[in-house]
Amino acid sequence: MEGLTALVTGGAGFVGANLVREALRQGCARVVVVDNLLSSERENLAADPRVDFVLGSIADDSVLGELEDEFDCVFHLATYHGNQSSIADPLADHDNNLITTLKLYERLTGFRRPRKVVYAASGCTLAPHTFDRAEATIEDGPVPLELDSPYQISKVVGEFYSVYYHTQHGLPTVRARFQNVYGPGEILGAGEWRGTPATVWRNVTPTFVYRALKRLSLTVENGGSATRDFIYVDDIVRGLILCATTGQPGDVYNLASGVETSILDLATLVNQLTGNPAPIDFRPRRDWDRSGKRFGSTEKAKRALGFEAHVALREGVRRTIDWTREHLPLIDRCVQKHAARIPLV
Ligand SMILES: NC(=O)c1ccc[n+]([C@@H]2O[C@H](COP(=O)([O-])OP(=O)(O)OC[C@H]3O[C@@H](n4cnc5c(N)ncnc54)[C@H](O)[C@@H]3O)[C@@H](O)[C@H]2O)c1
Repeated sequence: MEGLTALVTGGAGFVGANLVREALRQGCARVVVVDNLLSSERENLAADPRVDFVLGSIADDSVLGELEDEFDCVFHLATYHGNQSSIADPLADHDNNLITTLKLYERLTGFRRPRKVVYAASGCTLAPHTFDRAEATIEDGPVPLELDSPYQISKVVGEFYSVYYHTQHGLPTVRARFQNVYGPGEILGAGEWRGTPATVWRNVTPTFVYRALKRLSLTVENGGSATRDFIYVDDIVRGLILCATTGQPGDVYNLASGVETSILDLATLVNQLTGNPAPIDFRPRRDWDRSGKRFGSTEKAKRALGFEAHVALREGVRRTIDWTREHLPLIDRCVQKHAARIPLV
C-alpha cells in the first residue's frame, strides 16, 4: 500500500476502520473515507492527517460528484448493517446496501486510475440451509434464490454488479467473501437506531464478550448447535489488502478461517476467558434464520492469494476481551443511546 491513494466506503465501520489503520501502517499516502455513520462512530476512525472523512452516503450524487479519479484502489464496505435491520426496513437496506453499489460503480466507470475495486461480499449468502453436517462453502457454489433477508439479497446483487461492471466496463472488481468477522473495533450500538435490538447486539462475539464482562448470562438459541466460521479482523484486513494487490479482476475469494465453531462452544469459551459465572440462557431458534451450520473453504484463497487466517479463535477472543475492557466507556455510551427503545439486560 506504500504511496497509494485509497477510497474506503463504510470506512468508519468495524472492518473499515481496521482496514484504514492497516493501510496507513503500510504507508498509504491518502485514504478518503465516505461514511454516513448509520452503524458506526466517527471516533472509531484513525485520527491521521492522511485520512479525509466525507460524512454522507455513497449513493448521494453530490458525494459521488466530488470524488476525483485519484484512487489506486477502492474498498467498498458500506452496508446497511445487518440481517435483522434489513428485515425491519428493506427500503433502508436498499438505499444503503444495494443502490449504493450500483451508483458507486456507475461513477467508477468514468475513472481510469483504479487498479482494483474490492467488494465486501458475504459468505452467508451462499451457505446451504442446513442444521445437519456442513460442507465447506466454495467460491463457485450455487447461489440460492431463497435467501433469509434483504441484507443477503443486496449482498448477492452487489456481487452480480461486481461481475457485470467487470465484464461490460472493465471495472477491476474483486469480490472478497467474508465469513463471520470478530475482533477489536466492533462497537455495540454504534450509529443510529435501525429498528431492532440488533442495532445494539450486532454480532454474536462482541455481544457475548460485552455481556460476559458485565456478568450477564449469554443467550444461546437452538441449543447453540449452529456453527459459524469465525475470522479475526486482522486476518480479514490482510485478506482485503491481498485482494487489492494480488486478486484477479473479476474473481472472487473466500476470506475464511475454515474452522467450524458451534455457538455453544463460543459461549463456553467467552465465559471461561472472562470468568463469567452466569449460566447460559437457552432459547428457541430465531424464526428468520435457516442457516444452521456453515464454514468457508480456504483452498482457493490460499492457492491464489497466499491467504491463510493466522489468529486462532482462543487468541482472537482473548484480544477482543482485552479491547472491550479498555473501551467499555465508549461501548457503554453507544449501548445506552438505545436504552429507551429496548431493555438492555
Ligand atoms: N462483519 C462481518 O462479519 C461481515 C461478514 C460478511 C460481510 N461483511 C461485509 O463487510 C462490510 C463491513 O461490515 P462491518 O462489519 O464493518 O459493518 P459496519 O456496520 O461496522 O460497517 C458498515 C459501514 O457502512 C456505513 N454505511 C452505511 N450506509 C452507508 C452509505 N449509504 N454510504 C456510506 N457508508 C454507509 C456504516 O455507517 C458503517 O460505518 C459490509 O459490506 C458487510 O456486508 C461483514
